[in-house]
Amino acid sequence: MRILGFLLLLAGLGPGLRSQEAFLAKPYLQVGAAPKADRLELLWLARDVDHAWTVTLKTLGESAWKSASAATCRTVTLAGLPPHRIYAAKLQGLKAGAAFQYRVSMDGRTVFEAKGRGPKNATQPQHILLFGDGATGSPHQKAIAARMAQQDPDAVFILGDIVYSRGRASEYLDRFFPIYNADEHGPGQGGPLMRSVPFIPVLGNHDVMPLNARGDRPSDGLAYYLYWSLPLNGPLLKAGGPNTPIIQPLYWSEFLKGTGPRFPGMGNYSFTLGNAHWTVLDSNPYVDWLDPALKAWLEADLREASKATWRFVLFHHPGFNGSVAHAEDQWMRLLSPVFEKHGVQLVFSGHVHAYQRSRPLTFKPEAATDATAARKGLADVNGAFAIDRAFDGHRATKARGIIYVISGAGGAELYNTKQDHKPESWQAFTQTMVSDRYSFTVLDLKGGRAELRQLAEDGTEIDHFVLTR
Ligand SMILES: [Fe+2]
Repeated sequence: MRILGFLLLLAGLGPGLRSQEAFLAKPYLQVGAAPKADRLELLWLARDVDHAWTVTLKTLGESAWKSASAATCRTVTLAGLPPHRIYAAKLQGLKAGAAFQYRVSMDGRTVFEAKGRGPKNATQPQHILLFGDGATGSPHQKAIAARMAQQDPDAVFILGDIVYSRGRASEYLDRFFPIYNADEHGPGQGGPLMRSVPFIPVLGNHDVMPLNARGDRPSDGLAYYLYWSLPLNGPLLKAGGPNTPIIQPLYWSEFLKGTGPRFPGMGNYSFTLGNAHWTVLDSNPYVDWLDPALKAWLEADLREASKATWRFVLFHHPGFNGSVAHAEDQWMRLLSPVFEKHGVQLVFSGHVHAYQRSRPLTFKPEAATDATAARKGLADVNGAFAIDRAFDGHRATKARGIIYVISGAGGAELYNTKQDHKPESWQAFTQTMVSDRYSFTVLDLKGGRAELRQLAEDGTEIDHFVLTR
């Protein structure tokens, strides 16, 4: 009887069980190494076992299924983790902003199915989410993920400290993929976001954090370079060279086998989505953004983006922060003149576990600034501010200067929670601070109108402003 029961169980659960077991991380969308208007990339993680994988897709409402590109595969063999494979297939021929359906099959049997939307074109409105400092596994992370899934966004940007506490592959598998790509959305679990929306991350300090003060790395650290597929158009960097994170020599060859060309260049990149150009920078202190080669790349990137309606820059360590926490981390202010010269409108950061928004401002650093000491947090970056106090984001919506937004309350423990009730403790440039709520940013772009709302984990709106060109 027991054997019969076991056989019945196998017969009943077999296909479901096998599809659950097919993935270490369920399929997730990416913009890919060379983003194009009509395509996205689909990645998934599976065990290091041979199977025939295929992906098919169709525009929603049409009947004909077509094949995605053949899946490519990288094998990850890192000490402490089961060997596994990262598969990637290109979903081509997508229609701008149109819903599509895709299926992933293993050995001829469909094991996963989901919907997505083709990248928007320059005339279509965009509904974008941003948050930082999320994946600790906390109930707040899960509540934010569930809330974001209800938003049905076009893209989700992560403003660094993607996964705690050391950017390890094991941490992605434990508290990142299962929450942002949960099968259903609910406050206790997260939401099915990544299968339908490309996530676009920024490197934070925790994503490159060593194990100890000696700089030893975990064998599965720097997993950013393994699991994301992002534009490979950043400044030319050399593994082991300046402006790159250090890899532990012990794990060097296994690590590079998994990352391929993604390391070290994928820390900085840019791309255009609809009418907005996004430039993503690695702001970790090992990067000297005044290095002529890096600065030239940034200048050229923003110059080429001059036709885009919106130019947004993202990096983890905010240059203009009104919190007590991390007040000494000011080195990214040194790039303000470059951003201003090329008409950047908004800069987004995380790192400070709070929500903040600056008044529109311009900033000219003092020539005598010691940039090296500033990157170590040992010297302030002082300079001349011009703060636009007329902008109110409701009636006066044209800004004179750049608005610096910090959205770092995505799940990790909040900082300085009493400070939002003490505006006298803020900086002169701080317009708004909400430090006692977990939150994420909703950015709606429609032509030359950008509307930003900050939503708390219970859905309450805690800030709102409009910016017009
Ligand atoms: Fe951080």
